[in-house]
Amino acid sequence: MKARVFSGVQPSGNLHIGNYLGALSPWVGYQQQFETIFCIVDLHAITVYQSPAELRSKIEETAALFLAAGIDPKHSSIMVQSAVPAHSELAWMLTCVTPVGWLERMTQYKAKAAAQQTVGDGLLQYPVLMAADILLYQAAIVPVGEDQAQHLELTRDVAQRFNSLYGETFVVPQTGLPSVGARIMGLDDPTVKMSKSATGAGHAVGLLDPPDKIRKSIMRATTDSNPAVDFAILSPGVENLLNIFQAFSRWSDEKMRAHFTGIRYGDLKKQVAEMVIAHIEPFQQRYREITSDPGYVARILREGAERVAPIANSTVELVKSRMGLYTESR
Ligand code: TYM
Repeated sequence: MKARVFSGVQPSGNLHIGNYLGALSPWVGYQQQFETIFCIVDLHAITVYQSPAELRSKIEETAALFLAAGIDPKHSSIMVQSAVPAHSELAWMLTCVTPVGWLERMTQYKAKAAAQQTVGDGLLQYPVLMAADILLYQAAIVPVGEDQAQHLELTRDVAQRFNSLYGETFVVPQTGLPSVGARIMGLDDPTVKMSKSATGAGHAVGLLDPPDKIRKSIMRATTDSNPAVDFAILSPGVENLLNIFQAFSRWSDEKMRAHFTGIRYGDLKKQVAEMVIAHIEPFQQRYREITSDPGYVARILREGAERVAPIANSTVELVKSRMGLYTESR
């Protein structure tokens, strides 16, 4: 039996090249060797308020972006979290074995809570639901960007705590970080990660941005007061541009140094923009083809949920019986 890989994306805001390089593109490479499940985590999205109409349309848009990136429904299950109720069920059971202190320490919780007037309990429970997503499918590897590494550590801790309290139940998953592109920074401010929720013009390159807009955002990216690339003294902005180029081109470190040493920042930006556009244009073409068939994405999502639900339900049954909850099959 192939080992299982699970990962997810929130259908909130506009997906950007950070999501592509940190998650979607690496996912494609797992499809041949593993059983792969990719999830649109709508229950996570509502931990902060979402306009219902917008959330509804972002769910299918996100699924279409997975497909355009090369996730192949013949090899992978693409599904929506709320379509499989076992995610919420397991989350409750795991909530009961997760110390509050573990959750209050999460840096993403602290940052998101600081930006809200009223903090919903769901924001605190967020990583427990994420642990449920992963443990439900007994995933061996979870490919994510670096910002999710702390949540993955928590998932491992929750799995281990459950296993020690109730006996071996869950596979303890490994984090799969890409070697380049695990942390793409904001173009306007390279000290913060590129984020879906940041709204400022020139912060992110959206996966559906037209080429002119991509060029403009990259040409305006923050660098420093030096004129040209010097690998001995890379500022965060220049390092980020080089990272973006390397992640798309897959050039080696040696080739990057040989090519870019001494190149003026204006030229660096032009080359980065053209490299990004060369990858994004065919991606957007596939996206247009996928979305031109009105029922296609909905069908893929239905099939995905149908395929994974039996796995999820059997884990919930196992957990119930381990914990002494009522199950008929016991
Ligand atoms: P989300 O929706 O914020 O991001 C989706 C994926 O994109 C990666 N990512 C980045 N990678 C590189 N540079 C960036 N600037 C960047 N920004 C985002 C994220 O690391 C992620 O892999 N909590 C998760 C969703 C989730 C999940 C799961 C993931 C819910 N359940 C189970 C894995 C397994 C999140 O909010 O991702």
